[in-house]
Amino acid sequence: MPLPATITIRRPDDWHVHLRDGPLLAACAVHTARQFGRAIIMPNLVPPVTKVAEASAYRERIRAAVPKDLRFEPLMTCYLTDGADPAELTRGKTEGVWVAAKLYPAHATTNSAHGVTSMDRVAKGLEAMEKAGMPLLVHGEVTDPDVDIFDREAVFLEKVLAPLLKRHQGLKIVLEHITTREGVAFVEAHPGRLGGTITPHHLSYNRNAIFKGGIRPHFYCLPIAKREEHRLALRRAATSDSAQFFLGTDTAPHTTDTKECACGCAGVFNAPVAMQVYAQVFAEEGKLDRLEAFASLNGPAFYGLPPNEERVTLRAAALDAPDHIEVPALAKTITVFRPDTPVDWSF
Ligand code: DOR
Ligand code: ZN
Repeated sequence: MPLPATITIRRPDDWHVHLRDGPLLAACAVHTARQFGRAIIMPNLVPPVTKVAEASAYRERIRAAVPKDLRFEPLMTCYLTDGADPAELTRGKTEGVWVAAKLYPAHATTNSAHGVTSMDRVAKGLEAMEKAGMPLLVHGEVTDPDVDIFDREAVFLEKVLAPLLKRHQGLKIVLEHITTREGVAFVEAHPGRLGGTITPHHLSYNRNAIFKGGIRPHFYCLPIAKREEHRLALRRAATSDSAQFFLGTDTAPHTTDTKECACGCAGVFNAPVAMQVYAQVFAEEGKLDRLEAFASLNGPAFYGLPPNEERVTLRAAALDAPDHIEVPALAKTITVFRPDTPVDWSF
């Protein structure tokens, strides 16, 4: 079937974004706001966003960083720590500040040192979230150094997530940035309880890309990309008719110098190219008709929000995006994600 020259869909939302703060926020916010109507904002700042007042103030800084002509709604999340205060969780939800809370297992990834060391320690907070109807967003990797980095997601499902689902029967959970066929199957096995977000980068390359011709730090993120069979499972899930899977870019800016060094940071900055890469994947799978559900409908339905009314159009034309953006206040750049394969869509 010939591809259409354009595709028009409701404005998409991004259900997993790192916008950072200060100079990085100033440089990055516009790129997410150009493409998406709303975004779930990750709270892994230094220090992390754990209080309602901190989240309100951060939301204002984000709004101030977005150009006035763009309509963009930041949806705030609470960073769960050991002993998270149930009253603070409930209050933030009631006051319309928290949309969800984020579970980082301690030391799983960037700025997760204050994360949760044992699920027992957040049980009271999770009970409050169940009552308040507040979803839990999960970085699904175990942190045990004896578990191979490529197995950390699969082990998490069995050791942590399955018991958590049993213990908190009323809790809705998003398994963020799934990277394995086990992750796909686990989400599918829990309709009504579980959603799964999928990034553009995990759809477009497998782990070989990280090492093709040398170490390529801009392909390194956590959870790390897995084997090809897992990438194919993610592509099937994203383009399937299941409403459990939705868009979450996990765009995670780090300045180029902090990626291209002896111990490079984890994270792929994909905000300027996100919808173009998703469109490419859906076109390659012959499923462009499902892009709107994945990008603009399934996420709002999971969170109980209306979809955006505005429409946006993607054009079948060679990708038109910079290979890096500037962070003027730091005199540094952030490298923009580019898959090795062609992207023939423009936003
Ligand atoms: O690659 C990643 N980068 N994974 C995460 O979970 C966090 C993120 C970041 O904040 O840089
Ligand atoms: Zn993330």
